[in-house]
Amino acid sequence: MGFDDAPLPKTVTAETVLSLKHWTDDVFSLRVTRPAAFRFRSGEFIMLGLMVDGKPLLRAYSMASPAWDDGLDFYSIKVQDGPLTSRLQHIQEGDKILLGKKPTGTLVLDALKPGKRLYLFSTGTGIAPFASLIREPETYEKFDEVILTHTCRNVADLAYGEDLVANLKDDPLVGEEAPAKLTHYTSTTREEFERMGRITTLIENGKLFQDLGVPPLNRDVDRVMICGSMAMLQDTKELCLKAGLEEGSNAAPGDFVVEKAFAD
Ligand code: A2P
Repeated sequence: MGFDDAPLPKTVTAETVLSLKHWTDDVFSLRVTRPAAFRFRSGEFIMLGLMVDGKPLLRAYSMASPAWDDGLDFYSIKVQDGPLTSRLQHIQEGDKILLGKKPTGTLVLDALKPGKRLYLFSTGTGIAPFASLIREPETYEKFDEVILTHTCRNVADLAYGEDLVANLKDDPLVGEEAPAKLTHYTSTTREEFERMGRITTLIENGKLFQDLGVPPLNRDVDRVMICGSMAMLQDTKELCLKAGLEEGSNAAPGDFVVEKAFAD
């Protein structure tokens, strides 16, 4: 894709695609090589992209693998007329891909005050940073319970998360703690499923807490990370504020943190 004839900008490295999986017509995941000097905190994002017409075309993507992993995993939507993902969805094993050098983000454990229960609220490809965090040993050192919620339009969209969670028991670092401490809570909104409804609805009507057998959000013990579309972020954030939780950042840790799922 034009990598040989155009000079690489200094802000990126050219990595190699190691593997790919197309989960549905709308989403796929890929694993790419990780440069030895590339350091990040589980939950952060990075610019990822391709050379297009001799220029880098980059978008922010959350790392979907933990900081200790040798490779870098990503989970992407396919937007048929999206400038980047319309091209990226055709990438093949062995192809080159551009990777930024400066990871950043607020969905990191350092941005939360100590707590007992960690909620990871995600919709669609917003599960990606949590794919990183649920394989991070520090997550289980800091919290007694971890609740990963994933809401998608259709049942097939839940497969990536189901697979991820099913494989946790074989994980070399969190294989014991994760299955004991993590609850995976899924719902759909547009296709019949055993549990339906937006996460905001399930929080508001109390069904989430009833199903989990825990009290409603409480700032003394609960911490929250939120990742999804802009509208989902806004609405879920409102519910956290209403429950008395305060927003945190890298500079000032708090009770909840928010980040948008990046795609075109
Ligand atoms: P819905 O089907 O009711 O729109 P999207 O692909 O549009 O990002 O949606 C992914 C999931 O997030 C869908 O289940 C969708 O529900 C849900 N969703 C969309 N907007 C919101 C919102 N404002 N608050 C909570 N969930 C939302």
